[in-house]
Amino acid sequence: MTVTHSKQPLVVSFLQQPLKGKVNVPGDKSISHRALMLSALANGETKITGLLEGEDVMQTAQVMRALGAIIHQKAPGEWQVIGKGVGYLNEPDDVLNMGNSGTSARLLSGILSTHNIFSVVTGDCSLRKRPMRRIIEPLSQTGAQFSTRDGGRLPMAIKGVEKANPVTYRLPVASAQVKSAILLAGLNANGMTIVEEPIATRDHTENMLNHFGVKVDISTLAEKGRKICLQGPTKLVAKDVNVPGDPSSAAFLMVAGLIISGSEILIENVGLNPLRTGIIEALKMMGANLQISNKRQEGGEITGDIIVKNTTLKGVDLPASIVPSMIDEFPILSVAAAYAKGESRFRGLAELRVKESDRFNSIINMLRKNGVSVESHGDDMIIEGTFGNIPGGGEVETHMDHRLAMSASILGLVAKKTITIDDIRFIRTSFPGYFELMNSLGCGFQI
Ligand code: S3P
Repeated sequence: MTVTHSKQPLVVSFLQQPLKGKVNVPGDKSISHRALMLSALANGETKITGLLEGEDVMQTAQVMRALGAIIHQKAPGEWQVIGKGVGYLNEPDDVLNMGNSGTSARLLSGILSTHNIFSVVTGDCSLRKRPMRRIIEPLSQTGAQFSTRDGGRLPMAIKGVEKANPVTYRLPVASAQVKSAILLAGLNANGMTIVEEPIATRDHTENMLNHFGVKVDISTLAEKGRKICLQGPTKLVAKDVNVPGDPSSAAFLMVAGLIISGSEILIENVGLNPLRTGIIEALKMMGANLQISNKRQEGGEITGDIIVKNTTLKGVDLPASIVPSMIDEFPILSVAAAYAKGESRFRGLAELRVKESDRFNSIINMLRKNGVSVESHGDDMIIEGTFGNIPGGGEVETHMDHRLAMSASILGLVAKKTITIDDIRFIRTSFPGYFELMNSLGCGFQI
């Protein structure tokens, strides 16, 4: 990502006034990456509206251009993509840099593995620490060859294959990125690609493939699992995409509105895919006053408006089964738990250790440095709620993690003493205009 070299710290003070107003959050990051990738693989022209114009997604646009797609911004949030067709991507003449984004690195690797081209994928120093073996193992079944640095880390060279084998794979960890990488490889493989997931993860890839005319068969497995099958090789037919607002971005507003005294916010046009709304369920279990209105279906995705009203929250014991549906929301949920009355326990958070930062430890450090008691037992986290009395006064290290930075900013608004965030630059990977939007509701961040 194109960041300035020096860190950009921020000091946040207790907010004396409620948050009020009506806002739209930027487009969904997961759907935006997929919209660019699938339209670049489609035959014909796709218009995308509501695209997230954060740094990660812009990087995906750049990479799909390097592979031969024609991509133009027509107006803010409105993009035109002229696709190359499955199997027809160009060999890039330079390294493909995916910035801060694990999603785009992994999904793109799936696409590249079944194109007969050589490529090298890399990213920023946060992404270069993240595990890639989880995709190399299944994608190697296609016949493609992968070489990485020690520990399966980027940069990674991929020699894709022309006559690719389809993959059959049962996911050892719940990961939409791994599932999607395999499905996207399957678009240009010869035969049936089969992925089994023991617990359902976000299905934006399946939904958007359907939208582009690809038949994806989904059946349910025992417990909460799914089996997904796709017959390749197949074509995608260009079709316009409307990207809803990102529920993961809306989560920061939800928690801020719930815990800041007297607040009332309307967040319009938020994606409400049931495999993403674990945060709403979790907050409701804590007693949150969140109402959904205007629910509708657009391009295979459910959207709606969320009304948030300040509520007294109580601690919650969350089962591991909810984790995949709110995997990115634990940093901000931890702020709600720290503010709530009573103890919260979040179970089965192993995957948090391999996100943009080691979020398991980043969350614990953020809270402890600001006077909140947190314990860990294996992969469980136990937070002692302060019932509205977060001491604050500490510095938060964000480790190039946008969601940590935004969570710390909300923590600062409700803590007794000021909180210093070491670096806010990475917020623009997922939420460009974050501080302006929050200030329009009354946050008073001094940027
Ligand atoms: C994503 C899947 C999740 C999530 C990430 C986006 C996606 O990662 O954390 O922010 O768009 O598929 P995992 O699949 O690794 O859980």
